[in-house]
Amino acid sequence: MKVAKTIDEMSALRRQMTGSVGFVPTMGALHEGHLSLVRRARTDNDAVIASIFVNPTQFAPHEDLSHYPRPLDQDLGLLREEGVDVVFIPDASEIYPEGFATWVVMDDVTERLEGASRPGHFKGVATVVAKLLNIVQPQKAYFGRKDAQQLVVIQKMVRDLNMSVEIVPMSTVREADGLAMSSRNAYLSSEERRAAVVLYRDLVSCEQMYEDGIRDASGLRRAIESIIAQELSARVDYVSIADAETLEELETIGTDRPALASLAVYFGKTRLIDNVTLGES
Ligand code: PAF
Repeated sequence: MKVAKTIDEMSALRRQMTGSVGFVPTMGALHEGHLSLVRRARTDNDAVIASIFVNPTQFAPHEDLSHYPRPLDQDLGLLREEGVDVVFIPDASEIYPEGFATWVVMDDVTERLEGASRPGHFKGVATVVAKLLNIVQPQKAYFGRKDAQQLVVIQKMVRDLNMSVEIVPMSTVREADGLAMSSRNAYLSSEERRAAVVLYRDLVSCEQMYEDGIRDASGLRRAIESIIAQELSARVDYVSIADAETLEELETIGTDRPALASLAVYFGKTRLIDNVTLGES
């Protein structure tokens, strides 16, 4: 596995690659969720490039940028074991050099849910993903459905800006008790970790209610909130039943378009997100 630290090094290695390239962008602290993306990229393509870059522009000043886990040697070992060909690990000054001033800003869809709770977050995500795609030039790029809104934003950016890459969405990978894998799970105390499983229990109940024919979105939101309320250490940031593409909150779930049931909940200082899609064929 080759390691590129600069854009010049990355571009030189990319020029030597023939055939299809699959790309897995990450912020490191890799878990089975990331590795499932790498494995799929490995199966689909002749070569795989991964990146590890804790992108400062997607963190608000009060967020966890300085504490974000950075187990680089362990991450490089995992990527090597999965047969990744090149890993790109730029410094922030390489991606955002002095004088950097061009941003990808998207209307509407970035203002809801995560965007409402984390203003500016998707400006940072869309900009860094656009830059990484330009640098790496993959045929396909792989993203997890756990960050459902991020996936919607990136798919929309690729369509709106006519970028020639296929975005491949991948299912959320869960722990044995259902908690969605996330690098931020490492922040949870053992008591918070026990409590956090309420997110999955709640989404499973929501799916069941949908299967039972309930289409009233306010009723579903209330039901989700009341399940979380039973877990005293949980503090709800938002609960949403929205159109899966526009992310506009729904009154009633229609028969023609899937809905996204999503939630963000604090356990202590740790904010976790999770979601399920309702009515997906
Ligand atoms: O999902 C992530 O890890 C990050 O948001 C991404 C896509 C690597 C951009 O920094």
